[in-house]
Amino acid sequence: MSDKIRWGLIGLGSIARRFSNGLLLEPTAEIYAVASRSKDKANAFGAEFGATKCYDSYKALAKDPDVDVAYIGTPHTHHLPHTIMCLEAGKHVLCEKPFAVNASEARQMIDCARANNRFLMDAFWTRFFPAMIKLRELLADKAIGDVMLVQADFGYRTGSADPKSRILNPELAGGALLDVGSYCVQLASMVYGKQPRDIVSQVTLGATGVDELSVTVFKYSDYEMATITTAVRLSTPHEARIVGTDGHIAIDSFWSPYELTLHLHGQAPQTFRYDREGEGFQYEAAAVGECIRAGLTESDVMPLDETLAIMETLDRIRDNWGLRYPSER
Ligand SMILES: NC(=O)c1ccc[n+]([C@@H]2O[C@H](COP(=O)([O-])OP(=O)(O)OC[C@H]3O[C@@H](n4cnc5c(N)ncnc54)[C@H](OP(=O)(O)O)[C@@H]3O)[C@@H](O)[C@H]2O)c1
Repeated sequence: MSDKIRWGLIGLGSIARRFSNGLLLEPTAEIYAVASRSKDKANAFGAEFGATKCYDSYKALAKDPDVDVAYIGTPHTHHLPHTIMCLEAGKHVLCEKPFAVNASEARQMIDCARANNRFLMDAFWTRFFPAMIKLRELLADKAIGDVMLVQADFGYRTGSADPKSRILNPELAGGALLDVGSYCVQLASMVYGKQPRDIVSQVTLGATGVDELSVTVFKYSDYEMATITTAVRLSTPHEARIVGTDGHIAIDSFWSPYELTLHLHGQAPQTFRYDREGEGFQYEAAAVGECIRAGLTESDVMPLDETLAIMETLDRIRDNWGLRYPSER
């Protein structure tokens, strides 16, 4: 392995561009190769980000012996085939969220990584921000007592009315839950360290048949609950609140936070602020690089068994609604 972790990017859409800007801020990372279905797009993207290799085929990137880790930035429905292609070609893989369309797909991807002894991680970059590390420390120290409620919302107004868009198209597993509700579900999973016992959910399915607005209640035990709100036609406040017996922790824009505030009963609020350059994808990229250098096949911050459990919870929410994607019928 060279001094730097050599990344190969598959699918050069909007998130690949944002992730690449994060890679440029991570000194141990190199944008070594990029692959698009279009040669022109690969060349232009590669020139912009200084890639050594620009491929017009995802398979060619997977076969490049100098790529250390592949980054999968294609639509949800393509995560399974692209991840498996790269793992079977001997690459480590960071796969964008949602990891897969459902738990069955996630299980196949995880089994493939384990069979090939390659690193694999679900790209919940949220978990690697300094504010999230602080949150885990506060929870481990029982700073707010026993947690009894997690509230998280992630809703935005899609700019697209195009039914073929990734957000609205059922053929691409569109809808709010997999796109952004998954952030809320992973937060609840991280805080409680388990999945809900009971799930009740209400949804509005839009004209294309995908979820455009939903509110879900998780119950873990008599005194442990969570509420999850997610939308693609409505911009919600983007807040997370973790409420315990002694106070609560507030995190705004919780999927890529700058700060969190600790509110304890009878005390002045205390804010922990973490400024940064860029959006913050460099934290996730650094963590993946550290795991790969250490010879690990998964991250203990975003472990594969938890990824699978989160996918099972997402399946259970969709079971409440009777929503099945065409690829699942
Ligand atoms: N971590 C985050 O904050 C974050 C943010 C946004 C999105 N995401 C995730 O990243 C994934 C991609 O989202 P995005 O917003 O980047 O989507 P996007 O802009 O549509 O880009 C997806 C790319 O995938 C490739 N692709 C391959 N087959 C495709 C197909 N049949 N239809 C459309 N594109 C296809 C295309 O790249 P080429 O044309 O170059 O081949 C396309 O540009 C999603 O799973 C999403 O949930 C994560």
